[in-house]
Amino acid sequence: MKEMLENIQKQAIDDIESSLNLKELDIVKISYLGKKGKLTSILKDMKNLTKEERPLIGKFANIVRDCIENKIKKYSEDFFKKEMIIKLEKEKIDISIPAKRQKIGKRHPLSIVLREIEEIFFGMGFSVETGPDIEQSYYNFDALNIGENHPSRDPRDTFYIDSKTVLRSQTSPVQIRVMENNSPPLKIISPGKVFRADSADATHSPVFHQIEGLVIDKGISMSDLKGTLETFIKTLFGEDTKTRFRPHHFPFTEPSAEIDISCFSCNGTGCSLCKNEGYIEILGAGMVHNKVLSRCNIDPNIYSGFAFGMGLERIVMKKFKINDIRLFFENDSRFINNF
Ligand code: PHE
Repeated sequence: MKEMLENIQKQAIDDIESSLNLKELDIVKISYLGKKGKLTSILKDMKNLTKEERPLIGKFANIVRDCIENKIKKYSEDFFKKEMIIKLEKEKIDISIPAKRQKIGKRHPLSIVLREIEEIFFGMGFSVETGPDIEQSYYNFDALNIGENHPSRDPRDTFYIDSKTVLRSQTSPVQIRVMENNSPPLKIISPGKVFRADSADATHSPVFHQIEGLVIDKGISMSDLKGTLETFIKTLFGEDTKTRFRPHHFPFTEPSAEIDISCFSCNGTGCSLCKNEGYIEILGAGMVHNKVLSRCNIDPNIYSGFAFGMGLERIVMKKFKINDIRLFFENDSRFINNF
């Protein structure tokens, strides 16, 4: 039996030495040391040995097993190292390869200019307030002193949800909400969407954006309105821009004005952009009407203020020489990527 064990040891050593990788080594291991392995089955025959032989052979069998196990352990460690090196070599990451370019979106031209406008007003101490797009007709009309029969109330001009609810046709209702919920001094701008029942063409869109402004304090006068808007216009369009205040009428301001800026294409001499006017209208404004102040529980004998509203698309179209308002809402990246 000792001889058989010696043979097995020799064979095992041979097999281990001729295996080429971990997988082959594993097969060798199982074929000798596994449950049905050669060494294991020989040891099962030990029960046939005599009492004297058994401990001697047992001892020898242990030596043989240790020898095979150690050899396998050594080889398996070597294979593991070698295979790891090959694997790492294969999986090497080339960090010099240029990264895949990620396509990221671009800011919409309306957002770019809105940011710029907000920054200018932040610099003058204004903060931003917002109001709902779906508005009570009370805020959109009544509280702004817009009479029952005013043409802007017509369903052919304003979108009605029901008789008391509209898609706001202007950002002016935010003036009322701000005055109702805060006490003066107030100094806010309010950008947002407005809706009018216009069919879309190059200069009209059923949805566009306005930026409302409101300042209420003691002793606010028309000169504050002029100074604020002139500073804003010169900062946005350039120091040389001339402004023109024209008398106008809005039910919620008194007096009211429309403000034009000198055309930056022809500088006031007249061209196709300004339709030979030399000036372009960009703003409606005025001193907040006493009736509006009173309705919001602000005493017109103590406080006064001004308000203004401008169309954002108009301004962006002039600034970037865009000739069709519909381009803003088509979401075509070929347009948006230009800015
Ligand atoms: N809401 C007016 C409009 O849409 C503009 C405006 C705002 C006028 C504030 C005066 C004061 O035409």
